[in-house]
Amino acid sequence: MSATSKPSADPSPTASLSPSQRENETAATIRAHLRWGWWSLLIFLSLGVALEAFHGFKADFYLNVSLETRRLMWTLAHAHGTLLGLVNIAFAATLRSVPQWDERSRGLASGCLKAASLLLPAGFFLGGIKVYGGDPGLGIVLVPVGALLLFVTVFLTARSLAAEPAASSSFAPPPSPETGGRKSGRK
Ligand code: HEM
Repeated sequence: MSATSKPSADPSPTASLSPSQRENETAATIRAHLRWGWWSLLIFLSLGVALEAFHGFKADFYLNVSLETRRLMWTLAHAHGTLLGLVNIAFAATLRSVPQWDERSRGLASGCLKAASLLLPAGFFLGGIKVYGGDPGLGIVLVPVGALLLFVTVFLTARSLAAEPAASSSFAPPPSPETGGRKSGRK
């Protein structure tokens, strides 16, 4: 880890929120990504079913060799949309493990992931609607933008896990009546 990383006790932007506000924010972000992930899965698995049907009905607009760019684009839209749905669910599952992740960086990672989950598959799908021989349509420009945003999310998430967890982690057990609300374990 770099010597420039902030000490874990640094109260920075997270200090502005009370522990219960922070807990609520985390729960809301988790729910948002779970919702996003499961709806994405439904949409892009349905696209897979549509592609399957195009094969079944030997749809010319999909299977004609002169339109293979369209087939590639729509297959990529299906695959990326489905996998990004799973990435959203993985992101939601990661959030509880990084209670020390500061609000701003976490919000940025979350926003970039949502935008990437939209732009990447949409870019492939739109790029396949009108194709120019071997070239996809203009919609494909959304793909590198989405890819960049996805890199931002992945970098911020990986970096948040590199930092030491703060002493008051959300893994701490709730105060029991015997301890009178005192924290057990470390003094
Ligand atoms: C987690 C679930 C899924 C994932 C990660 C996934 C991923 C992928 C990937 C990576 C490809 C590209 C394969 C290649 O070209 O080498 C693909 C193709 C395809 N998938 Fe899925 N898929 C999933 C579920 C489904 C479902 C449920 C269906 C439909 C019942 C489906 C239908 C298709 C079809 C028809 C193709 C081929 C399209 C073509 O080449 O014309 N997929 N999928």
